Amino acid sequence: MWDDLKRLAAAREERRIEALFAEDADRAARFSVEAGGMLLDFSKTQLDDEVLEALLALAEAAQVAPRREAMFAGAKINETEGRAVLHTALRNLDGAPVLVDGTDVMPEVLATLGRMEVLAEEIRASGVTDVVNIGIGGSDLGPKMGTIALAPFHDGPRCHFVSNVDGADIADTLKLCNPASTLFIIASKTFTTIETMTNAKTAWDWLESKGQTTEGKFIALSSNQAKAAEWGIPETRVFGFEDWVGGRYSMWGPIGLSMMIAIGPDDFRAFLRGGMEMDAHFRDAPLAQNMPVMLALVGMWHNQVLGYTTRAVLPYDNRLARLPAYLQQLEMESNGKGVSMDGADLTVTSGPVVWGEPGTNGQHAFYQLIHQGTRVVPCEFMVAARGHEPELRHHHELLVANCLAQSEALMRGRSLDEARGKVAGKFEGDELERQARHRVFPGNRPSTTLVYASLDPQTLGRIVALYEHRVFVEGVILNINSYDQWGVELGKELATALGPMVSGAQSAEGKDGSTRQLLTFLSQNV
Ligand code: F6P
Repeated sequence: MWDDLKRLAAAREERRIEALFAEDADRAARFSVEAGGMLLDFSKTQLDDEVLEALLALAEAAQVAPRREAMFAGAKINETEGRAVLHTALRNLDGAPVLVDGTDVMPEVLATLGRMEVLAEEIRASGVTDVVNIGIGGSDLGPKMGTIALAPFHDGPRCHFVSNVDGADIADTLKLCNPASTLFIIASKTFTTIETMTNAKTAWDWLESKGQTTEGKFIALSSNQAKAAEWGIPETRVFGFEDWVGGRYSMWGPIGLSMMIAIGPDDFRAFLRGGMEMDAHFRDAPLAQNMPVMLALVGMWHNQVLGYTTRAVLPYDNRLARLPAYLQQLEMESNGKGVSMDGADLTVTSGPVVWGEPGTNGQHAFYQLIHQGTRVVPCEFMVAARGHEPELRHHHELLVANCLAQSEALMRGRSLDEARGKVAGKFEGDELERQARHRVFPGNRPSTTLVYASLDPQTLGRIVALYEHRVFVEGVILNINSYDQWGVELGKELATALGPMVSGAQSAEGKDGSTRQLLTFLSQNV
């Protein structure tokens, strides 16, 4: 099937995307899907009916639909860890039963949500000025991204996020906090992550050094309740979740507590509702009208078929500044794998490198390469119809115009003739030719655009769930396990071994020459 797709791609090498619009007046509508008040337009790509049919056949052959049902039904699709994958249960607000090993998990999920809501309200009303979420990876990126995204809904205490083991992170954060009115949330699924545990201990010591009691100042969010108890955090302040919630899929449950404290339980529920709506769409819509499926297939056409190995996520929404970082973990930790479920080598490329920055900032940084570099970078634009600053409507109009201009420019490009026209009169002869060539844009560069009414909690929920399901579909088609992350282990093991060598407690004998040289230079310059 991949060979068929590659043949289709080769036959389209010379074809311009613009020509597709000229041939088909309905192209924009036919190569778009709508869901939950959002429009995903993928018409500015090389997709045509034949390619679409082949991509859909790929999804059918990979059994996307039955495997999707298996996920929602609590089957242990995380095969290397023997776990179900049920972050969807965390937003299943109507409480319809979800069975894991024959037990309905929903009463527990909803009870935990209820407890979170009570505590969040209590904290919001308590005079706490600062909440510091200490976590990393999935225990940081989601709530941090969401809290920034929903700034207009933020009416609770200030929220800070400390993740890096670099002492600069916590030191800079603590400088902003009043020890008497600061609350710490230790967010760690395992409660063993070295960065988080180190930062949590520093926070504990800081409170004590400021003459404050630590009692009532710490909350734990973890699957490892025993470890949380070892920290002396009372049960009422521990919020657990099961091993069927992956770290990078966990912002919907207890890991989202900081965000809930920031925006309040009602808005947090709206976020969950948005995710739940996207779940219903993903389960019910036919593959060709299914937004996560189409986003996945377009991505795979670009990456696995056309060989464009990176994709840029470009939100024209400043408050989605951390979305690219969030998606880096979601997509790259999930689908950056070289072996399939059965342990065989993948025969196609794994998931792409995901990167990006909000527009319009990116335009003044790396868009040069996107437009004229030799690599093609498929771009995923997103923009709201409405900003949250009605008095600054002209800003929003400029933002939208820039977003649309970029996808148009990427597609159209500028021919040598057009470029000559731009410099005619300023230069002549060979110099005109040379100058014109610098102003050529190859064009024919693909992009998708996601448009939504406004970035509110429900919309954010839809967007996050959209990307989660996209990752699922890509994983199913690649036949990999999107829910483990063995690739992060080796570095952690080596860091543990290197610790005593960095401190000088142990010799670096046996290490490679480069590592020894680096250790020596570092120790000489401490
Ligand atoms: O980097 C690996 C990882 O396990 C991520 O998957 C996870 O989100 C992060 O570390 C943090 O883990 P924990 O929540 O257990 O501290």
